[in-house]
Amino acid sequence: MSIAYNARHLASHEHELARSLRARGREVWPLIRRDADLGHAVTVQRAPLEPTQEDARWRASEPVFLPGVLGDVERQRRQEIRGCLAMFDRLRAEESEFLDELELRLHDDEWLRYAGSTVDQDDPREVERCFVDAEVDGETVAADLWAKLAWITEDATDSSLRIRFSNGLDQLEEWMTTSDLTASWVDRFALRAFPECAAILNCAPLRERLDRLVGQPHRLSERIIYNNAPNGGAAFHHDAEPGQLGVVYSQLEGHTAWFTLSKRRLADVLRRCGWPDRRAAMAALDDARDPRLFHVLNRDASFARQLAAHGALFVLRAGDCLLLPSQGVDDVAWHSVLAIGERPSLAHSYGVFPRQADYDPAGDPWLTRAATLR
Ligand SMILES: [Fe+2]
Repeated sequence: MSIAYNARHLASHEHELARSLRARGREVWPLIRRDADLGHAVTVQRAPLEPTQEDARWRASEPVFLPGVLGDVERQRRQEIRGCLAMFDRLRAEESEFLDELELRLHDDEWLRYAGSTVDQDDPREVERCFVDAEVDGETVAADLWAKLAWITEDATDSSLRIRFSNGLDQLEEWMTTSDLTASWVDRFALRAFPECAAILNCAPLRERLDRLVGQPHRLSERIIYNNAPNGGAAFHHDAEPGQLGVVYSQLEGHTAWFTLSKRRLADVLRRCGWPDRRAAMAALDDARDPRLFHVLNRDASFARQLAAHGALFVLRAGDCLLLPSQGVDDVAWHSVLAIGERPSLAHSYGVFPRQADYDPAGDPWLTRAATLR
């Protein structure tokens, strides 16, 4: 039987208990992000969810944890994963430039042609954005596809990096209205540059899960490659964007810790911390400017402990996926990520988008496979 790894929580001062658990071979992870100490996560083993339980969680906008669904990805994709981690190390140390790294990866590509590179001086997090066009038989079939390398935050104590693949002007959020055809070329761009994408796109059990949960033809787009560094990660947020059905997060190397639960349940936990009722807490979550709320969500160890007590703490290891449903602004899995471990890790995050059933998938294995499964 496969085993689900979940996590429970130790308070910051329980160092003695953490030491004793480690001595007995248990994994204990300090939860520290941008110098906020949120206690410790202790991995525990639980039985995996039944399909009906997964369905119920997805419908309730709760995260669906799929431990080990990618198999032994670290071994099967060792070379690509090591190459990618080494690339991020060079970029972080400014020993190489993103364009050069990308050129090396795409050098003999049959379809993708380099079309320029820019740096947005108004965005302090952006390092470089590289553009390509897709050409078939000398004709451009999709233009202005880009990969953007950026720091996750402006906070200098967090050196996490990410690469996002998209197209068009992101100030105008053009990606929301991208055609299936253009999106499939962006998706192919990510796959060609980072072949380890195939570990996710060829994963039949993941495909079957998403087919069942999403219940409609879909594509995995707006791909982001994460290199979460110690003391780093993402503050609490949601990804409820128009047309987006959810997110698939896949850990390929190392570990991350997650606090994640539906917005409604998050509001219920906030109610215990001074917000008068669920409605007030939901309204507070809609207004990201409240500094007290930000502190409670992201820097308060006792709140973290309450979240863990509500089953909202997960530790992801290589081979695990986490599905984050997104049915609307009030029906969405909120989430917060913490890098754990000694060095930056590797993970991919893909948005789930509806698609037409009958378009040319431009060779994306996820879509090619869909055709054979139906
Ligand atoms: Fe997110």
